[in-house]
Amino acid sequence: MARSKPIRIGIVGLGMGKAHAMAAAGLPGVEIAAIAEPDSSRLEQLHNNIAKQHGAKAAAKAKQARLYDDYKAMARDGAVDGMILALPTDMHAAASRYCLKQGVHVLCEKPPTVKASEMAAVKKLAEDQNLTYMFCRQQRFDPKKFATRDLALAGKLGTIYHAESKWMRTRGVPFRGGWGVNKDSGGGVLLDLGIHQLDDAWFCMGSPKPVEVFAGLHCGMPHLAKGQKLSMPYNADDCTVGMVRFDTGATLMVTVTFALNEVKPDTEDGVIGNTEWFELKVLGSKAGIDVVRNRMVSDNPKGAKVGAIPVPAKLKKMRTQIGGQLANFTDAIRTGAQPLNTAEQALHLMQMLDALRKSSETGRSVRIK
Ligand SMILES: NC(=O)c1ccc[n+]([C@@H]2O[C@H](COP(=O)([O-])OP(=O)(O)OC[C@H]3O[C@@H](n4cnc5c(N)ncnc54)[C@H](O)[C@@H]3O)[C@@H](O)[C@H]2O)c1
Repeated sequence: MARSKPIRIGIVGLGMGKAHAMAAAGLPGVEIAAIAEPDSSRLEQLHNNIAKQHGAKAAAKAKQARLYDDYKAMARDGAVDGMILALPTDMHAAASRYCLKQGVHVLCEKPPTVKASEMAAVKKLAEDQNLTYMFCRQQRFDPKKFATRDLALAGKLGTIYHAESKWMRTRGVPFRGGWGVNKDSGGGVLLDLGIHQLDDAWFCMGSPKPVEVFAGLHCGMPHLAKGQKLSMPYNADDCTVGMVRFDTGATLMVTVTFALNEVKPDTEDGVIGNTEWFELKVLGSKAGIDVVRNRMVSDNPKGAKVGAIPVPAKLKKMRTQIGGQLANFTDAIRTGAQPLNTAEQALHLMQMLDALRKSSETGRSVRIK
């Protein structure tokens, strides 16, 4: 595709899709060509946000985008090169397949699908159609995480034997009208936050091959649904603890919660409130990295040396988060190169998520073939 022509992007779903649209409105070489969202109040909100952040000219341009009630009409119209799917989770698999069949490149929100078998079908279709497929994990676009992964892959951390990853929310349940907390509709903390934390640690470790998992998925706080007027029951996991073992022998512990009767560490007042905290550590025989605290501890004959994560100057200049992810997606469309978040990795992640769920259901560890 010619570099001079802007990539025409279609945004689908204006919950999380708003953040993608904001990034697209500020990215050179990208045009918001179409938007699909049945709720018109969300569209109005988006135009206001673009005007505030990027100015009246950008908002006027965004208002020229074609509008649809449904993503299928957009995919069929031929007015976009790529679509960003920010639909409810249980629509991801079918929508990704539909768009790829229409010849449209896909950037799909996380989790890429609900089950690994669905992701295998999406991956095969993208390959058969020779189209770019990417799943959203904008948190990978972080210089500290890139630097950690590069150090791990170069052997600078020694043998990596363990990683820990947490996203702890005390009162941060994304009800989403009900589907966010319903286990039959793609809800629950494993699929929502678990994939983020699992992928963060797996990415930083250099993506070793998973072989076995053990997990507990708990639905601990369904009473929080009271007064929420949910269209479906709160019965999905809101606290999940899992362990993955890789073919290298390394292990990864992941803990994610929507709600918890706990206070943020080092919080004195004992108020639960809507707080959250993160952990992300990769431990090797030569050095360990704490990404959240920007700390590298290196083994040294004279004692441990503690310093910041060494981030090369080139990485410090990288485009980060959602903007970085969108630039990577549109570059992949232009050049045909693999995006950073590949369909193959999406499949490995979904295999880990499937196995974690099965382990909790059966009370046994589950092998990944
Ligand atoms: N990457 C991240 O950090 C991040 C953050 C939040 C949410 N997400 C993911 O984004 C997805 C959406 O989450 P959300 O919080 O925005 O949910 P949401 O329910 O708030 O938004 C979904 C939107 O899709 C619209 N929609 C439904 N059917 C449609 C159709 N056929 N065509 C077009 N639009 C349609 C709905 O009207 C709604 O506005 C989820 O899969 C979630 O996991 C990712």
